[in-house]
Amino acid sequence: MLDVKAIRKNFPILDRKVYGKPLVYLDNAATSQKPHSVIQSLVDYYEGYNANVHRGVHALSMEATDKYEEARHKVARFIGAPKPESVIWTRNTSEAINLVAYTWAAANIKAGDEIVVSQMEHHSNLVPWQKVARDNGATLQVIPITKEGVLDPSQTDSFITRKTKLLAINQVSNSLGTINPVKSLTKKAHAFGAKVLIDGAQSVPHMPVDVKDLDCDFLAFSGHKMLGPTGIGALYVKPDVLEKMEPFLRGGEMVLEVWNDRATWNGLPMRFEAGTPNIADAIALGAAVDYLTALGMDNVREHEKQLTQYALSQLKQIEELDLFGPMDVSQRGGILPFHNSEVHPHDLGTYLDREGIAIRTGHHCTMPLMRAMGIVATARASLYIYNTEEEVDKLVAVLKDALRYFTDGTKRANRPG
Ligand SMILES: Cc1ncc(COP(=O)(O)O)c(C=O)c1O
Repeated sequence: MLDVKAIRKNFPILDRKVYGKPLVYLDNAATSQKPHSVIQSLVDYYEGYNANVHRGVHALSMEATDKYEEARHKVARFIGAPKPESVIWTRNTSEAINLVAYTWAAANIKAGDEIVVSQMEHHSNLVPWQKVARDNGATLQVIPITKEGVLDPSQTDSFITRKTKLLAINQVSNSLGTINPVKSLTKKAHAFGAKVLIDGAQSVPHMPVDVKDLDCDFLAFSGHKMLGPTGIGALYVKPDVLEKMEPFLRGGEMVLEVWNDRATWNGLPMRFEAGTPNIADAIALGAAVDYLTALGMDNVREHEKQLTQYALSQLKQIEELDLFGPMDVSQRGGILPFHNSEVHPHDLGTYLDREGIAIRTGHHCTMPLMRAMGIVATARASLYIYNTEEEVDKLVAVLKDALRYFTDGTKRANRPG
């Protein structure tokens, strides 16, 4: 298990106060905090060996190139990728998914084909497919969910058919916490010759993810949700699929030879990385992967499972709250959405904020899901390696106050400030 006390010491921001109260950071699904080693790796690069990569013969450039490629190796190992070249740097999950939409999907999805997604996709794994479907004359099929917030088992199978060309699905829902059975879905989709893209934005930071085991064709994730900096993410593509893909962006470094009227493409992964890349942040993502690897992803998952179990047991005691997603923690990540029919989630979020507690409120970039659930927004607490039971207790206590405050007019009138 994790030594949370020791972990917390590695995160400088956890010492700060918000409105004079100790920060309780429960917005990890939006972005995680960064340990000192990640912050220091950025400083080390800019102070010690800042140079462009893959193009210099001088010492600094070679040092930067080595560190930059070493980070790719680390990320590849972290997700079980067979080769480092099958990991392409992107800005984030959204860009990784768009890369697939603009390259593989644009070339391979044909009129009459179907792209299958679920009702619980983040807009980043829905809107790009709407464009592909529209441009290529394909149809988007949406697997419905049950009241418990899981894929409807009675319907899921019927959505994956010989017409399916692509299944694009999240491994963990950012709005419900649901863990989807992506391995079995991948097997099923492959049986019909379809490709599978997994949105790993909420899974790669929180549990062991192995692309060889899942056998997915694409895996997209963001560095900033897994202790790394913003502006860096990755797309894994199965080597035989990647080999046949056309470039996404064109320009320097992604070419081998250029004439006035044509060009040939560089090898992998450079073919997909036009221009000067985000060197510092890629290296810092490598440091984030080192940190998570040292903790052990099984331990990370176990910690979150136990804390989620505890949080659910506490939140369930607040009768006025509706909770969403599966109640069995073996089927959910550390994402805790809640809702009260009389109080807008933004009001809850603002009240909690005044007590130093950071949560997210809104539609969480899943408007079709909110519509399907018959609400417009939820409040969402999301957990990570540095969160504690004491923080959950604080959330629950302040939440109870907030609900009393907003549903009892006399309290509101008497509240100081
Ligand atoms: C499941 C899921 N997919 C995609 C994204 C998009 O990630 P990014 O904003 O880093 O591109 C998020 C972000 O919250 C997410 O939770």
